[in-house]
Amino acid sequence: MRISVIGTGYVGSVTAACFAELGHEVICVDVDEKKVSMINAGKAPIWEEGLDELLTKHAEKRIIATSDYDYAVQRSDVSFICVGTPSDEKGNIDLSIVESAAVSLGEAMAKKDHYHVVVVKSTVVPETTEKFVLPVLESYCGKKAGKDFGVAMNPEFLREGKAVYDFMHPDKIVVGAIDERTFFMVSELYRGLDCEVTHTQPTTAEMIKYANNALLATKISFANEMGNICKMLGIDTYAVMEEVGKDYRIAPDFLNCGAGFGGSCFPKDVRAIIGKAEELGYTPRLLRSVIDVNEEQPMGMIKLLREKAGELQGKRITVLGLAFKNGTDDIRESRSIPVIAELLREEAQVSAYDPMATEHMKKVFPGITYCDSAAEALRDADACLLMTEWNQFRRLDKEFAAMKRPLVIDGRHLIDPEELSVKIEYEGLCW
Ligand code: UDX
Repeated sequence: MRISVIGTGYVGSVTAACFAELGHEVICVDVDEKKVSMINAGKAPIWEEGLDELLTKHAEKRIIATSDYDYAVQRSDVSFICVGTPSDEKGNIDLSIVESAAVSLGEAMAKKDHYHVVVVKSTVVPETTEKFVLPVLESYCGKKAGKDFGVAMNPEFLREGKAVYDFMHPDKIVVGAIDERTFFMVSELYRGLDCEVTHTQPTTAEMIKYANNALLATKISFANEMGNICKMLGIDTYAVMEEVGKDYRIAPDFLNCGAGFGGSCFPKDVRAIIGKAEELGYTPRLLRSVIDVNEEQPMGMIKLLREKAGELQGKRITVLGLAFKNGTDDIRESRSIPVIAELLREEAQVSAYDPMATEHMKKVFPGITYCDSAAEALRDADACLLMTEWNQFRRLDKEFAAMKRPLVIDGRHLIDPEELSVKIEYEGLCW
């Protein structure tokens, strides 16, 4: 089939590359000419495992990129909206980019004679597809949804760093389509994957995405709360949660306590669904607590540090790990951000190291010292805060030995002090 993908960010470029791999012809549309040229040259605009390879394989064969909506709509049967949905200053979803994509698609569809399907893949709060995107399309193309064109909402469940794998090996595919014809066209696109496709209402599909992410975030905040209690009682939380996770009704994943969750999805999506609920007059207390626990959790690192090292003013503190998780250069909502902010507030001298994310963090904290290695960051330090679970931080024997005081506070349950050849003062955040 012929597809166009609007937006070549993380979701759009992965969606385009994977649909091409499934045998479809894909036209990528982006207003940013730089991204358009990159895709046409077979290069990924973002780093994702396996993405460059797929784009190199399919660029200018099954994938082409353009900034021209008319070209893309005329030569495709289905358009996927994969643009960003940032938060506004209150934490609510900002739909302005989705709106401008829908306006441009509507204008292009006005000039097309054939039936076309528009699929929202961007994460949008319930009712957005039917009550916002659909009317914008109708008014700009002058046609009727359900008769002249189809509309669907098809959420993605891709993890950063594993997005290509996740696309190709889905647990579920949900298509919230306004009618059978639309559902059939969209579900056909996924035919090559070993997964059944569920037909829902668009609002249900939108809600499935939020409920999914909100529950995963809740599991993490729950594990963190258990961890905080276990720490006070001297109980090994990881031993506790391992047994808890053996209950098939709970499952073992996302029960690791630590410095909290970050990234582009969990914090933003939980806030957005809270915002939507409040707009409807309901206060979701559980979800608010999920966010509250996550805000307080990294501050536990500072509290432990103060307990062990005393006054922080003038102390040299190393922050190991800046990315929100390992395997990415993404620092969005990284738990290292509030930690560094607090260290600076208390006038500590901060030296930081991350294998991938340093350049991004320089924009947030230009004034701290960025090092090229963990060894350089740890030399003569008074203490170390471990914020991201990079594998290379597991064995820093001689590097820890070169600290002024080898005090290590682990926010990710990464280090086993017994395995190190040197003696360190080790503190787990909540274990
Ligand atoms: C997540 C979802 O997994 C994905 O399905 C959705 O589409 C987007 O959001 P991602 O943000 O890439 O993906 O990261 P993920 O690997 O899920 O981790 C999120 C955060 O939770 C990280 O900061 C991680 O360190 C933290 N985490 C995860 C924990 O603190 N404990 C855990 O047990 C698991």
